[in-house]
Amino acid sequence: MGVEVRVAGLTKSFGPQPVWSDVTLTLPAGEISVLLGPSGTGKSVFLKALVGLLKPDRGEIWIEGSNLPRLSERALYDIRRLFGVLFQDGALFGSMNIYDNVAFPLREHTKLTEKRIRAVVTEKLEMVGLVGAEDKLPGQISGGMRKRAGLARALVLEPKIVLFDEPDSGLDPVRTAYLNQLIIDLNQQTGATFLIVTHDINTARTVPDNIGLLYHGHLAMFGPREMLLSSEEPVVRQFLNAQRVGPIGMAEEKDADELKAEADAGVELPPLPPIPLQLQPSDGQPRRAERSPGQWCAENGVAPPPGSFEGAIRRSDGATWRTEEATAWPA
Ligand SMILES: Nc1ncnc2c1ncn2[C@@H]1O[C@H](COP(=O)(O)OP(=O)(O)OP(=O)(O)O)[C@@H](O)[C@H]1O
Ligand SMILES: [Mg+2]
Repeated sequence: MGVEVRVAGLTKSFGPQPVWSDVTLTLPAGEISVLLGPSGTGKSVFLKALVGLLKPDRGEIWIEGSNLPRLSERALYDIRRLFGVLFQDGALFGSMNIYDNVAFPLREHTKLTEKRIRAVVTEKLEMVGLVGAEDKLPGQISGGMRKRAGLARALVLEPKIVLFDEPDSGLDPVRTAYLNQLIIDLNQQTGATFLIVTHDINTARTVPDNIGLLYHGHLAMFGPREMLLSSEEPVVRQFLNAQRVGPIGMAEEKDADELKAEADAGVELPPLPPIPLQLQPSDGQPRRAERSPGQWCAENGVAPPPGSFEGAIRRSDGATWRTEEATAWPA
């Protein structure tokens, strides 16, 4: 099973340049969370801080009773084994074939025999659909395959927390859909805690249980998917709906003149689009952190945008919905 990651007051700067400050959030054990934010807001830095590759200036990262920034190098090394990381560029070794790339962490961190290693590598390559590509070099396969090879490598040490840095960048829409399904299925199979950095709004709207938005040096919001998808908060609303109107400009923040011009021109944000259903595991079982569609909205007295949860059946009391498979519906 996955483990909870609790971040409190985390602050990071490079010299005089602050990246973000006072980031506080909890990644619930076994759930999928997505982290969004304009380019350069420090999403990759956040992932690196979580695994202890970058040291924060202040704040806490609690995992299984340990506060990571306070750990010795030795203890940190042990905690890192809980993590699997898919770096932004896949980070495969160019001169090693796919098999050796995926086997690398096992040879580095375990005393497994080559026979055992073969079994684990084959299992992971099967999980990501790369059986048959073992002998290929990274330069000989497509970008989508490289991502999946990086994913197989991130999974070989049976991580309890998996961090994905833009797993879908550079993929075509069909491959992105396959990759998203793969992520859901891997979460279902492993029960690990997932954090995904993405720029893909469709991924952000349908894959996670929770969404966070980094903006302008702060965590603008973090919470259940429905909370952000029904939020009227201008930054959240503009970003999650990919709109030009709103406080975010081309160079991060619009200046007061630009915002005033928008206000004077009476430019308003278009209505919130409907909240889509979450992507479901392909084994037909409910997601591990399954909540009924509309549950968060109902519990918090928020009316979801019209047309939300299309494809689900409205419950007799009208408050929330359920998916076609009645399994998802709590008694
Ligand atoms: N090792 C480093 N030393 C100095 N500055 C750094 C370092 N790593 C990142 N930065 C700076 O921190 C800021 C955040 O970078 P980061 O790569 O985390 O952004 P990001 O949100 O992942 O962007 P993108 O969406 O483009 O991947 C940038 O201004 C970057 O230049
Ligand atoms: Mg990045």
